Amino acid sequence: MGFGYHGEVSNRPRTVTFDSAPAPGVINFGIGQPSPDLLPVDLLRTASADFMAHAQPLELNYGERQGDERFRTALAGFLASHYEHPVSAGSLLVTGGNSQALDFVCGHFAKEGDTVFIEEPSYFLAHQIFSDHGLQVVGIPMDEDGLITDALVEQLAIHQPVLLYTIPSYHNPTGKTLSGKRRETLARLSLEHDFLVVADEVYQLLNYFDQPPPAMGTMTDRGNILSLGSFSKILAPGLRLGWIQTSDALMARLLETGVINSGGAVNHFTSHVVRHAIELGLQDSLLQHLRSSYGQRLETMHLALHRQLGDMARWSRPGGGYFFWLEFDSTLDTAELRKQAAAFKTGFQPGTVFSCTGDLNHFLRLSFAHYRNDDITEGVARLAALVRNVPLIDLPHSRATESV
Ligand SMILES: Cc1ncc(COP(=O)(O)O)c(C=O)c1O
Repeated sequence: MGFGYHGEVSNRPRTVTFDSAPAPGVINFGIGQPSPDLLPVDLLRTASADFMAHAQPLELNYGERQGDERFRTALAGFLASHYEHPVSAGSLLVTGGNSQALDFVCGHFAKEGDTVFIEEPSYFLAHQIFSDHGLQVVGIPMDEDGLITDALVEQLAIHQPVLLYTIPSYHNPTGKTLSGKRRETLARLSLEHDFLVVADEVYQLLNYFDQPPPAMGTMTDRGNILSLGSFSKILAPGLRLGWIQTSDALMARLLETGVINSGGAVNHFTSHVVRHAIELGLQDSLLQHLRSSYGQRLETMHLALHRQLGDMARWSRPGGGYFFWLEFDSTLDTAELRKQAAAFKTGFQPGTVFSCTGDLNHFLRLSFAHYRNDDITEGVARLAALVRNVPLIDLPHSRATESV
């Protein structure tokens, strides 16, 4: 299955729908956030108590510009063990998560009117960040192996992008993973054509079956690469903590900024707590737990989709991350369908919000992260009732049917 439109420059204003909490009784797969039972309050209580038991006054002062060195050393060890590749504390800059990092990178490396390349489709809130900076967006199509590098080469003959934004592993919204070979090609092209690869690796560690290809963060020696990582999906979004991994040369440029010189590291206090979580082994245990829980939810959704919508939609089972990307017959308009979703007590994100040109109307994105297995099965039954426009009670395998 291929999808995506490419070649046309776009900076259309973004109307963004951001579902944060479902209405009571609604199972809204539009929400791309962890369920409450996976938000680790006890873990953070333990890590905070461990930090506060040993805290020194200077830990409440401004932090180092690049971020507390002990935190970066702990983070480097954590990443090295999962990437199975050396990571140095010096290659890491502490950020407030990937949204803040992307905004920071755009502000620092791009100016109004510059061109950025993004995958078509891409993370809808990234579109808004590019629009905030007045950047011209060019979409590069994707296939089963992620961004199509041959299409990228064609566009490089026409445009000179300042940066290319990619979500290499378990892409939002498609769930696809960029192949290892294409990662190497991307790195090489960034040097040949002098642009930055901004790799949003927010789902890199959320693999549930096989290992994904190496993180772009392990390739900073052979490309102009900024790898953006975050604790939002592997610990808690409310921490607002992440990192940029890059080469010495690009790190020196990142550190030139006034905001870092004036304020020191971002989220210095939070980084102390997370350091203790890493050093106590709590982050590793949570990651194992998340992989197992999300892996089961993914399988549950895959099975429910087969039973309920197997004859109407096409999708590939993702290997990690949060999302399924469903393609329907081209006559189905998922933005229209969404208007009726509340009546069926279900929800999703329509394809069009992920498109830089407002296309992809017959796709939709489902997140399995916010619900437990029972709710996933029930929510997919409601979604199928909505798509087929039948009363829920008429559907095979729905909880509503089973209860009568
Ligand atoms: C691809 C992608 N990037 C960034 C974010 C947000 O990351 P953060 O919470 O680190 O700002 C998300 C969250 O859904 C995402 O899916």
